[in-house]
Amino acid sequence: MGKVISVANQKGGVGKTTTTINLAAALGEAGKKVLVIDMDPQGNTTSGMGVDKNEEENTIYELMLGESVIGNCIKKDVVKNVSLIPANVDFAAAEVELIGIEKSEFILKNQLEKVKDGYDFILIDCPPSLSTLTVNALTTSDSVLVPIQCEYYALEGLSQLIHTINLIRQRLNNKINIEGVVFTMYDSRTNLSSQVVENVKANFAYTVFDTVIPRNTRLAEAPSFGMPVLEYDSKAPGSEAYRALAKEVIKNNR
Ligand SMILES: Nc1ncnc2c1ncn2[C@@H]1O[C@H](COP(=O)(O)OP(=O)(O)O)[C@@H](O)[C@H]1O
Ligand SMILES: [Mg+2]
Repeated sequence: MGKVISVANQKGGVGKTTTTINLAAALGEAGKKVLVIDMDPQGNTTSGMGVDKNEEENTIYELMLGESVIGNCIKKDVVKNVSLIPANVDFAAAEVELIGIEKSEFILKNQLEKVKDGYDFILIDCPPSLSTLTVNALTTSDSVLVPIQCEYYALEGLSQLIHTINLIRQRLNNKINIEGVVFTMYDSRTNLSSQVVENVKANFAYTVFDTVIPRNTRLAEAPSFGMPVLEYDSKAPGSEAYRALAKEVIKNNR
């Protein structure tokens, strides 16, 4: 049965989308069947996987509003072994349109039940907020993977995220746990990066992945070519790092 992992951190620019795309691609490369769900109206995961977000008529928006069924929203094998439910800017209105709809927290979960068994992993790229959309993602998820950027304010906001996850566990989804924290944009030339990693490891009671994602320009370039870094530059340090992360995720879920 498919393991559902939300990639979440309400801070923007910490590497959620980069991690979703490249972890998915690395899991796919390792032979796992993966479904990626773009839950961010910015649609960066969608374009980063080579899908023209403005051309799509069956997106997460239509799915969440009940205007389409999940089978019609899945774009199959956009990357080796990786399928995608796309998003675009229309989705920004969903937040408001869902107001007052009964059990709206469970829409994604109910839809996903229908296809979950066809995948090994389902990765949900969350928007940079703790909004209805993130609540839907967390209600649906078995676990949360939290990317943390190696910077001075890395831990800021982490306690709100943990608090949100705890509320979701109490009220909406008692099985949710934390898959782990992964450090992104690690710069080996500065002391700051290693200090941030040490500080989090010392103060954080959850799993911290051994794999650290380095700062690597190839990772930033790949989306403009609509491909994961693993396709764009298979030997880049960023590719190797996401392969190592995928290995850990697979091992932890045996
Ligand atoms: N390890 C990395 N090395 C270099 N650039 C990165 C790395 N991870 C992310 N980036 C870049 O940083 C920016 C923010 O990353 P992104 O994954 O979009 O964050 P989020 O989804 O959390 O907002 C993007 O321009 C992305 O290309
Ligand atoms: Mg993003």
